[in-house]
Amino acid sequence: MNIRLATANDLMGMQACNLNNLPENYTLRYYLYHALSWPQLSYVAEDNKGRIVGYILAKMEEDLEEGEEPHGHVTSISVLRSHRRLGLAKKLMIQSQEAMATVYRAAYVSLHVRKSNRAALGLYRDTLGFTLSKTEEKYYHDGEDAYAMRLNFKP
Ligand code: ACO
Repeated sequence: MNIRLATANDLMGMQACNLNNLPENYTLRYYLYHALSWPQLSYVAEDNKGRIVGYILAKMEEDLEEGEEPHGHVTSISVLRSHRRLGLAKKLMIQSQEAMATVYRAAYVSLHVRKSNRAALGLYRDTLGFTLSKTEEKYYHDGEDAYAMRLNFKP
């Protein structure tokens, strides 16, 4: 298994992986927007045949509120069922976080996750040390609440 920076050639593979794994889906144009705007922040995990089995789609937050520090945001991450619990998501998150901090001097990374998503909460909170910023009620289209979470890069 190999983790590497995503390129424009990977976007359809990333979208296919996303469609397989999550109800939150995006247009190809939105993937392209990430790749063109923040080419250092999105990564893929590929198997030994070069097939994409996981990805992280990430960006820098664009609409900063007054006083808010520059920070990264994870738009989406997922790993195919067949390749879970191998540490791929952890590696994808860490690669992207390092690039946010070093390339863009991000102060922290934020994301949204469904309240019921036990696996992702385990990854963010228990493995990576994210903390809860707030609960956003009915954030998802089906009415489920989201936890807004963040991880500070500076002590
Ligand atoms: N239950 C509890 N904790 C889990 C689980 C699980 N099923 N899966 C992962 N974790 C936690 C564990 O702490 C794990 O460490 P451990 O294996 O040493 O115990 C840690 O996360 C790291 O696990 P990884 O192997 O790196 O995670 P994986 O590659 O399996 O991917 C992911 C985790 C991305 C959540 C995967 O389950 C998935 O693709 N789920 C569907 C899509 C999804 O929910 N994506 C996140 C949506 S939120 C967003 O995109 C911002």
